[in-house]
Amino acid sequence: MFHAQVLTLFPEFFDSPLSCSIPRRAIEAGIVAVDCIQIRDFATGRHRKVDDSPYGGGPGMLMKPEPVVAAIREARLRQPQTHVVMLTPSGAPFNQSRALEFTEKSSITLLCGRYEGFDERICDYVDEQISLGDYVLSGGEPAAMCVLDAVIRLLPDVLGSPESAVLDSFTEEGILDWPHYTRPEVFEGKAVPDVLLSGHHAEIEVWRREQALLRSRRRS
Ligand code: ADE
Repeated sequence: MFHAQVLTLFPEFFDSPLSCSIPRRAIEAGIVAVDCIQIRDFATGRHRKVDDSPYGGGPGMLMKPEPVVAAIREARLRQPQTHVVMLTPSGAPFNQSRALEFTEKSSITLLCGRYEGFDERICDYVDEQISLGDYVLSGGEPAAMCVLDAVIRLLPDVLGSPESAVLDSFTEEGILDWPHYTRPEVFEGKAVPDVLLSGHHAEIEVWRREQALLRSRRRS
């Protein structure tokens, strides 16, 4: 079984997405377990403070190192082989090949921050930093959920047909998927391309490849 852990101040964020569709089925089938660890449980003092203002001034609050590092230590105790990933807009870009790499681990731990970010010293306690893209989310949770979803669907036996994951957009570096059509044959005057109705498998394959390359060039 693949073990995912999420370090967060908002474990309830993950309830709905994990109880739908493919992640839900993967959890029910015992292929993956997702455990949230509440960072606030590791905060000390009467107020259980997890954030504080930045030295040197400036707006916003930062995640304090003590509770976050204590939560990371708990995650490593529970899953000694776990690969700890911090979600941050200043991390390395997440993509399909990173998702595939994560499926080869026995466990990943996703560290989500709120507020304006983390105290820089926390970076020394994680294995890597990952960004979902060049935009700032209000917290790491939506980014962690995307990483979880992308990883879970690639785990063995999660998808119905084993080809589905292999044929994904991006499985081949930088190449997008081809256009897909289903019934009806004509929708509001827009017809399905003839070649797809022809039954010529070799021609269909050539057409799909051409379309995928065209699309990849247009979008890059
Ligand atoms: N936290 C806030 N914004 C983020 C992003 N773009 N990627 C990952 N984590 C984030």
